[in-house]
Amino acid sequence: MLPVGSPATGDDFIDRERETAFILDTIEKDHVMLVAPRRFGKTSIMRKIERDLASRHKPCVFLEVESVNSPGEFITDLVTALVECGGASHKTRIFSALEKAFARLQENLDEIETPVFRAKLRSRLRAEFSDDWLEKARKLDTIFAEIDGPVCIILDEFPVAIQNMEADDARTFLHWFRRLRQVSAGVRFIVGGSVSIDHVVYGVGGTPVINDFRRVGIGGFEESVALSVVERVVQDEGWEYSPETGRTVLDCVGDPCIPYFLMIVLSGLKEEIEISGGAPSPALVDRVYNKRILGSEGRHYFEHYSRRLRITYSDQEAKAARAILGRVSAAESLSAAIAYDIFRRSTGSESEDAFLALLAQLNHDFYVAMETPGELRFYSKMLRDWWRIYHAGTG
Ligand SMILES: Nc1ncnc2c1ncn2[C@@H]1O[C@H](COP(=O)(O)OP(=O)(O)OP(=O)(O)O)[C@@H](O)[C@H]1O
Ligand SMILES: [Mg+2]
Repeated sequence: MLPVGSPATGDDFIDRERETAFILDTIEKDHVMLVAPRRFGKTSIMRKIERDLASRHKPCVFLEVESVNSPGEFITDLVTALVECGGASHKTRIFSALEKAFARLQENLDEIETPVFRAKLRSRLRAEFSDDWLEKARKLDTIFAEIDGPVCIILDEFPVAIQNMEADDARTFLHWFRRLRQVSAGVRFIVGGSVSIDHVVYGVGGTPVINDFRRVGIGGFEESVALSVVERVVQDEGWEYSPETGRTVLDCVGDPCIPYFLMIVLSGLKEEIEISGGAPSPALVDRVYNKRILGSEGRHYFEHYSRRLRITYSDQEAKAARAILGRVSAAESLSAAIAYDIFRRSTGSESEDAFLALLAQLNHDFYVAMETPGELRFYSKMLRDWWRIYHAGTG
């Protein structure tokens, strides 16, 4: 029961009862956007929603759109999924409407259940939408408007798809998609992703294109849930559990209790005991934390957080961010005034606006928290520990 990296599904999925109930309730009326830092369990929750809807016999499709590069590809994935979802009559109805709208789709409807059909449909839609996609996409509005629903469409990694598109396409696409949601009374979208949607849409249309989504924040595990997870893992292994051990595990992870970080500590503990023997104890947990997680073998767990600065920030911003985060990781907290000094030195820029924009971004991307105004600290204790070791001196 220790998923480390891939989404937690089936018996591995822990808790999130309040979140899933809330989302299921919300999609009765609204589209939902999951908002959470990386690794908080968004995909796991979306998969859970998919299972819950399936068990209630409600049509739902899950689309992971990370590799989508253009509006045409997005529409192809969306429409193929929609044709597949729901009962046979639903499929035929949607498909007939598509056939009427698009000459290229002529197909034998008897084959609709087969994988060959699906492959053909995909390649024809792809061809159909490879040019003049917007003109053709408008025809879809009518088809979507006729879906009597409720159909739930889950789009994981949606912001990445937008990021992958050419800027002009992305802008036009977001406007089209906004209108599609307005006209499709029977369809509810749930979107999520590992990069910030606000950051992505900022340059291509701004928030108005996504302001109809109801934002649902996903936090860390509650303390009682996290403690019971530790207890369960320890007991499943046949070891003796003590509340002190549970406490030490939670102290390593810090608050908020990021599910992925909790799983890393627990799987490290399990590995250590399997290899070297011993029994769970606060001392062993500390040793595992320092050796297996903060040591070089745990490096890959966190590399992403440092790499992302290079990918989503400009060179200047990344350099300044690195210098600031290095200093924040070395202290409990850092005053914004000192951070501004670091920014000026590192970029050669005096622009306070640029500095404040960078802080807002670091805050938004959950690197730093600013609960006390003017004071920066690392958002995650565990990430801070790691950063201090590998990046504190590298500004
Ligand atoms: N409900 C859960 N039960 C058990 N483990 C979980 C749960 N949610 C998250 N995890 C842990 O966190 C890891 C990441 O989960 P998931 O992929 O769902 O997160 P995510 O927010 O979609 O991540 P990303 O931002 O990278 O897309 C899982 O491999 C697992 O270790
Ligand atoms: Mg995910």
